[in-house]
Amino acid sequence: MNESEGDKEFEPKILAFTCNWSSYSSADQAGVSRIGYPPNVQIIRVMCSGRVDPLFVVDAFLNGADGVLIAACHPNYCRYDSGNRYAKTRTKFLKMLMEEVGIEPARLRIEWISALEGRKFVEVIQEMVKELKELGPLLAENDGRKSV
Ligand code: FES
Repeated sequence: MNESEGDKEFEPKILAFTCNWSSYSSADQAGVSRIGYPPNVQIIRVMCSGRVDPLFVVDAFLNGADGVLIAACHPNYCRYDSGNRYAKTRTKFLKMLMEEVGIEPARLRIEWISALEGRKFVEVIQEMVKELKELGPLLAENDGRKSV
């Protein structure tokens, strides 16, 4: 490793599962409104946050994500009634598991973000980037993980 590679600032990779009916549109709205957000995030659209199987989150961490965001409809606004409540319960459970195995629970976050909250989407991503930079990479470089 040369000196310039060693000085390179860590840029966390974030995988965001966004609900089609709310948060996905908020990310789109942020783009249309020209509210830039860090390029650290990759977005996966799901039809409801309740569709995010806990194994998707585990898989994201195993495949290179330093942080995972589940962005859902606000309480009582889930199109499928209770998907966001399931997502909240699963997130709580996953955070407990992460703590048990020595992974900082702050690497996983759930947020309610409506279609009109492009600015909130951007703020959440900015906060996550800041927090993840402080935490550092989840696993060391060249540990066999694929890139997200
Ligand atoms: Fe958006 Fe369920 S439809 S979280």
